[in-house]
Amino acid sequence: LASTEFDLTKVQEGQQVVIKWRGKPVFIRSRNATEIKAAEDTPLSELKDPQTDAERVKAGKEQWLILVGSCTHLGCVPTFGAGDYGGWFCPCHGSHYDTSGRIRKGPAPTNLVVPEYDFLTDTRVKIG
Ligand code: FES
Repeated sequence: LASTEFDLTKVQEGQQVVIKWRGKPVFIRSRNATEIKAAEDTPLSELKDPQTDAERVKAGKEQWLILVGSCTHLGCVPTFGAGDYGGWFCPCHGSHYDTSGRIRKGPAPTNLVVPEYDFLTDTRVKIG
């Protein structure tokens, strides 16, 4: 299936842009320093689906978090910047995700999915 390219200069720090990829929303989030630190400092023991932030971003590109925008409970699209952990909140049944897209509270069983992607340049990514 097709991959898609995206110009990261379109995303302001602290914001996200949603694109469509393979019929699904993909969140491209430019994290600020506070959001990155919160994600990195979270102990694995607090996570339902334990994964370090480093496992979910590219080394040296920690600003960028790229996720399939589909709640792992039943597939609703989570709301940006909401919920108790500053990541996303799924309004369907109340799942809270953190600034690494990891599930922290609510019925979703697993973290938001990180799709396959690569940096083509400092400001351009290829998803898929
Ligand atoms: Fe997101 Fe149920 S679909 S909490």
